[in-house]
Amino acid sequence: MTSARDFVKALGDENAAFWADRDVRLDAAAAPAVRLEQIRYRMRQGVYNELRSVELIAAWIPHVPEREIRELLPGQLDDEHRHYHLLRRRLLDLGEDPDAYRPLPEWEALFDWLVACRARPTLEKLAMFQFAGETQSCEGFETLIALAADVDPETAALYRTGILPDERRHAAIGRRALTLLCDTPGAQAAARAACREMNERVFGAYRAHRARADRRA
Ligand SMILES: [Fe+2]
Ligand SMILES: [Fe+2]
Repeated sequence: MTSARDFVKALGDENAAFWADRDVRLDAAAAPAVRLEQIRYRMRQGVYNELRSVELIAAWIPHVPEREIRELLPGQLDDEHRHYHLLRRRLLDLGEDPDAYRPLPEWEALFDWLVACRARPTLEKLAMFQFAGETQSCEGFETLIALAADVDPETAALYRTGILPDERRHAAIGRRALTLLCDTPGAQAAARAACREMNERVFGAYRAHRARADRRA
C-alpha cells in the first residue's frame, strides 16, 4: 500500500494536473480594461464565497470528531471572516455596493452542496474543501495577484498580504488531515473520489462565472 505521505503527494499532483488551464475566470491575454473588469467580478463573487466559507466551516466543525483536525478549523473560520470584511471594504472603497451583488447560482449551489456534506467522513470533507478546493484557490489567487499588479496594485497587495498567506495555511490543513487519515487503500480511494467530485463541481462554477462576467451580468 502507498504510504499516506506518498499518497497525499500523488493526489496533489493529480489535482494540479486536473487544473492545468482550467481556471477560466481570468484571461491573461485580455486588454487591461477587460482584465480589470474580470478582477472586479472576482472580488464581488469573492465577498460571497468568503462568507459562505465561514458558514461552511461552522457547519462542519461539529462533524469533525478527530480532535487534532477539528482544533484547526476555528482559526480557518476566523480567517475567512476576515477575508469577507477585507474584500467587502475594498469594494466599498472602490465605490461599489458589495451587498447589491447577486451571487452566481452555480457558486450558491456549490456551497449548499458542501454544507450538506457535513456528515460525510472527515477525510472526504477535507479532501474536497481544504485539500482540493483551497489548494486550487491559492493557485487562483496567485494568478489574480499577477494579473492585477499593473491595473490595480492596491487590490493585488490586499490579496498578496491579507488573503493568500491564510489560504496557504488552509490548504496545509487539508494535507495534514489526509496525511493523518488516508492510511488504508479504502480511505485513499475515498479521498481521491472526493477530490474528483469537488474539482468537477468547481470547474463547472468557474465556467459559469466566466460566462456571466463576459455578459457583465
Ligand atoms: Fe478565504
Ligand atoms: Fe480559505
